[in-house]
Amino acid sequence: MCGIVGYVGTPGVRSHNALEMVVSGLRRLEYRGYDSAGVALVADAQLWTEKRAGKISNLVEALGGQEVPVSHTGIGHTRWATHGGPTDRNAHPHVSSDSRVAIIHNGIIENFAELREELRETGVVLTSETDSEVAAHLVAAVLPEVDGDLAEALRQVSRRLEGAFTLVAVDADRPDVIVGARRNSPLVVGIGENEAFLASDVAAFIEHTREAIELGQDQVVEVRATGVTVTDFAGNPAEVTPYTIDWDAAAAEKGGYDLFMLKEIAEQPRAVADTLRGRVGRDGRLALDDMRISDAEFREVRKIIVVACGTAFHAGLVAKYAIEHWTRIPCEVELASEFRYRDPIVDARTLVIAVSQSGETMDTLMAMRYAREQGARVLAICNTVGSTMPRESDAVLYTNAGPEIAVASTKAFLTQIVAAYLVGLYLAQVRGNMFGDEIRAIERELEEMPNRVDLVLDTVEGVRALARELADATSVLFIGRHVGFPVALEGALKLKELAYMHAEGFAAGELKHGPIALIEDGVPVVVVMPPKGGRQSLHGKILSNIQEVRARGARTIVIAEEGDESVVPFADHVIRIPPTPTLMQPLVATVPLQVFACEMATARGLDVDQPRNLAKSVTVE
Ligand code: G6P
Repeated sequence: MCGIVGYVGTPGVRSHNALEMVVSGLRRLEYRGYDSAGVALVADAQLWTEKRAGKISNLVEALGGQEVPVSHTGIGHTRWATHGGPTDRNAHPHVSSDSRVAIIHNGIIENFAELREELRETGVVLTSETDSEVAAHLVAAVLPEVDGDLAEALRQVSRRLEGAFTLVAVDADRPDVIVGARRNSPLVVGIGENEAFLASDVAAFIEHTREAIELGQDQVVEVRATGVTVTDFAGNPAEVTPYTIDWDAAAAEKGGYDLFMLKEIAEQPRAVADTLRGRVGRDGRLALDDMRISDAEFREVRKIIVVACGTAFHAGLVAKYAIEHWTRIPCEVELASEFRYRDPIVDARTLVIAVSQSGETMDTLMAMRYAREQGARVLAICNTVGSTMPRESDAVLYTNAGPEIAVASTKAFLTQIVAAYLVGLYLAQVRGNMFGDEIRAIERELEEMPNRVDLVLDTVEGVRALARELADATSVLFIGRHVGFPVALEGALKLKELAYMHAEGFAAGELKHGPIALIEDGVPVVVVMPPKGGRQSLHGKILSNIQEVRARGARTIVIAEEGDESVVPFADHVIRIPPTPTLMQPLVATVPLQVFACEMATARGLDVDQPRNLAKSVTVE
């Protein structure tokens, strides 16, 4: 949510052009927000800024018509609006009244109203409706008191701010430095050769350097082309741990696909294989990495709570079925944004599993922090190495899916399910709920899944044609039972996110208690059919549900395994998936639904990778 880039290079080095570096970084971060964009450069002891409402292309167009000064120091921002609409005026950077300090911000400054008031009383004229602008004026006001030390000014101002913020500042009088402050929202430093970067995400600078430093909570960093200094908000030196980013720039490119989403859907077999890789030790036992929770503590667990948002929440809902079945430990799945407001029952024998692609979602982060305060052990299932959640957890299992850029989540979902299953099996192993050969059998089923997902991908052309045919529908319903229920929820979410269409997922058995009233002639209903060889009662029950909706005029689209002929008489369209055991089925049944939503949005002429109003990484509550 909001992308931030800062760059500082060496004067005289032609390739160290701040504008180019900042704009290319912004393009890489556009998935974080795309309501407006702007840049500020330091050149000839002046600030030069440009900002525009709308996507980065608007900013680039505006820059094209101007003579931009040569600069080796600059900052840039792509915004997801919170306070104040997506206008030119509210776009970042915000500049102090004396035009000396420019600031970009990600997060929400919660006490901004009183700070605005205070500034107004001193005669400052605020020019935007944002919470962020106050930071620029406050830093400018402090600078003379601290001999122009920009880092010290930012430390002093950060101590006064409440809420979540990443701030990056430049000062017209200091062309060799950019300064950043971090509380809750992410900020990472990239160390290049005689140049350095600051960004919300490594994607912004991966093509220039793989050496990075993740900033900790409440830290301020002073970045020069020659080095980096990190302190806490009080000015005490802080220890930093540099790391090398292990994916390359190509992983964040479209790689021949028209859309990131198409690429990421296609990457799912490899992503699932990568989540599984290296988890089974030579003795055949599961060995999860980064586990700082002892087996003794795992044996003490009496309750599991999964906290997550959006698609990750749906992955949690799927995992619940497997975890309870394998471990016999009660497992709740809670929307992270609701969790800490309901006085949940959490203690030292509770294992909280935080599931998040980005590792930065504020709702999930706050839920897990709350759980830790209550004494729970927290395990993060996360895709982004070095992000906040893994660093604040007692244990972490990385999904290793590679960067996910499209705003609507795809490969993260499949890999989150696999990772959560591994946690379930690990618990069953250390607690002795299952015999080794039972665990091994499930591991082998999981290892089969990349091939099965591949088979689904080979046959999605029919799904695409169907999506185009239904592109004018006003509403689509999805039904499923057992693990097919969260798959139905995920199918509906994808359609809402991408095609801006009314779509809802229901537990098929719940239809008759209300939602069936929505069925009228021609309404498409997508049915996730459980495996035929699974629990017979489940299969039979949902077969009845299909007939119920069909009798009321629904157009039925049935996802069923190869060889399940029982659905044919009641299906207007059958989408085939390879036979899989029930608990594995979400990994194949979700894929056609992702393709369906992607194609539907394309047919409606919509922006699939950057749907309206959404952001990939939501770092506000
Ligand atoms: C945003 C994204 C969703 C995502 C959710 C959780 O709303 O648009 O696609 O599922 O955040 O994100 P996380 O990074 O925590 O998995």
